[in-house]
Amino acid sequence: MAVFCLDGKTALVTGSSRGIGQAIAVSMAEAGARTVISGRNVDTCESVARSIREDGGHAMAATADIGDEPSLELLVQQVEREFGTIDILICNAASNSHFGSLLDFNAEAFRKMMDNNVASALTLAKLCVPAMKAQRDGVIILISSLAGLFGFRDLGPYGLSKAADISLVQHLAVELGEHNIRANAIAPGVVKTEFARPMWDDRQRAAPMLAATPLGRLGEPADIAGAVTFLASDAASFITGQTLVIDGGLSASGV
Ligand SMILES: NC(=O)c1ccc[n+]([C@@H]2O[C@H](COP(=O)([O-])OP(=O)(O)OC[C@H]3O[C@@H](n4cnc5c(N)ncnc54)[C@H](OP(=O)(O)O)[C@@H]3O)[C@@H](O)[C@H]2O)c1
Repeated sequence: MAVFCLDGKTALVTGSSRGIGQAIAVSMAEAGARTVISGRNVDTCESVARSIREDGGHAMAATADIGDEPSLELLVQQVEREFGTIDILICNAASNSHFGSLLDFNAEAFRKMMDNNVASALTLAKLCVPAMKAQRDGVIILISSLAGLFGFRDLGPYGLSKAADISLVQHLAVELGEHNIRANAIAPGVVKTEFARPMWDDRQRAAPMLAATPLGRLGEPADIAGAVTFLASDAASFITGQTLVIDGGLSASGV
């Protein structure tokens, strides 16, 4: 359907060499976007980009470390040179350098997480928005987390950074709406990736979560990708400043 089509758009997806970001990038490319695969490892980025091209899509690989501002500047310059203006910015890469009690909180680890999970999105927005403003069209999507909305054991400092992402899209939406730039977030529940392995690999921890999830399973990367592609498309042209929860109904269960 035309309203879901991303033909002619360029989408930059950070952290798209595996996991949720890879699924988002594949979905964007299937919808017609020129898609940028990014992460720190050139080989894994190249491999995902190549596989998209082999399936008939448009994709390029471009490495960057979200914790390193100059590398984000170079990333945006490279994409603009090779693919033109970034129409869709997906801030997906993140880190969790503190899994455990809040009381074992480490200020240095927390600062790193805020840099990676919040400041990098703001930096990328700052770099991409001037061109979006010039064309009066742009989409920014942050991958937050259910842990940004509710309390979870062992995820406190990470959850704080993800709550900041939810606030960030609200502020971006208010500031950029007049330029027809939309900003939204996705808050996934547990999705079976390497990143979340401590949450799902441990049966004892996963069992109560599964029992409280109406759809009776944990998430897969593809469960997140379609919703992100929808939010990036004209089908979502009047949606901004929102956070879409994708958790199999866990947060609706009241448990
Ligand atoms: N999985 C879940 O249950 C879950 C739930 C809620 C929210 N989320 C959020 O979803 C997003 C994706 O998570 P995921 O589970 O898909 O993780 P993942 O499978 O571990 O993938 C992470 C991706 O980010 C890249 N990356 C990691 N650190 C980076 C850095 N410093 N600079 C640039 N790229 C970096 C990785 O590539 P390299 O290592 O090669 O750089 C990889 O492509 C994150 O924002 C996470 O907070 C995940």
